[in-house]
Amino acid sequence: MANDDNYPVESDRRRFVKGVVGGAALSGVLTTGAVSVTSLTTPSGGGGGTMNYRGANRDLGPAPRSIPQIPIELDDDGNIMGLWPEPETREEGGVEFLVSEREFEVDGETVTYSTEWFQYCGLQTFQGIEPDADQDAYFRYDDAPPTNDYPWMENIIGGSQMNVDDFDQYEDWGNDIGDAGIGQPATGTWRSEDLPPEQTIPIFVMRSALIEELAEEDEWIAQTCPEGLIAFVGKCTHFCCVPNYKQLGESANFGAENKIYCQCHQSVYDPLNIVEEQFVSLPRPEDG
Ligand code: FES
Repeated sequence: MANDDNYPVESDRRRFVKGVVGGAALSGVLTTGAVSVTSLTTPSGGGGGTMNYRGANRDLGPAPRSIPQIPIELDDDGNIMGLWPEPETREEGGVEFLVSEREFEVDGETVTYSTEWFQYCGLQTFQGIEPDADQDAYFRYDDAPPTNDYPWMENIIGGSQMNVDDFDQYEDWGNDIGDAGIGQPATGTWRSEDLPPEQTIPIFVMRSALIEELAEEDEWIAQTCPEGLIAFVGKCTHFCCVPNYKQLGESANFGAENKIYCQCHQSVYDPLNIVEEQFVSLPRPEDG
């Protein structure tokens, strides 16, 4: 069969067809123990390098790996933040650079979260990705929330902070795409306040009763998804498009009506299946 796209999609499309026939449903099964190595090359310079991270499983399509999860914290007022640990200086090979990291204890093992999980697709050059950037960690709504797809956002003020109470329809929200009751979604930005559009870090956030259920049995989810909230950076790991969730009817053609769907080349990610994988984080320019 010809592969006109020049991407390694053919085998994925075959798998996709098989998956649809098999009726792969939205599953709450976590496979955090699974590690796949996409590359072992380590770039030169400080920061970046090969590391494990956690993200929404790539179910189908040419994307090489999962889309990175952003651990969430809530402040006392319920405002939602993406975890951005206090920067620390590290030295490797005589080069000093900053890292923002936190260790989690998960099933007796240490999982290191690093903001270097997001250093790919050019994000490594964004000001907000610098560990000591003059940005807070709050999630903010898009300046123009996608109210056509997410009518619940009609009263949201563009650019305002996300709050857990905004997601009070999370147990039964739905639109014309896929099933209702899976979760209440929102799009927004992170560490991008007062920066130009080309410096804006897109995020996807969802509050879901299914995440609440998962948190009862999964220590990672319990620690990174308070109140059923889960978040991902909005950059497809294939060619860096911003994927969407329940915003395109065509997603149903790829079994993605209840999943994160990238319309550029039909990659599908499952926000309810968090996996651990390995990738090569790219160094930030000031460290290179
Ligand atoms: S599938 Fe190609 S950029 Fe997302």
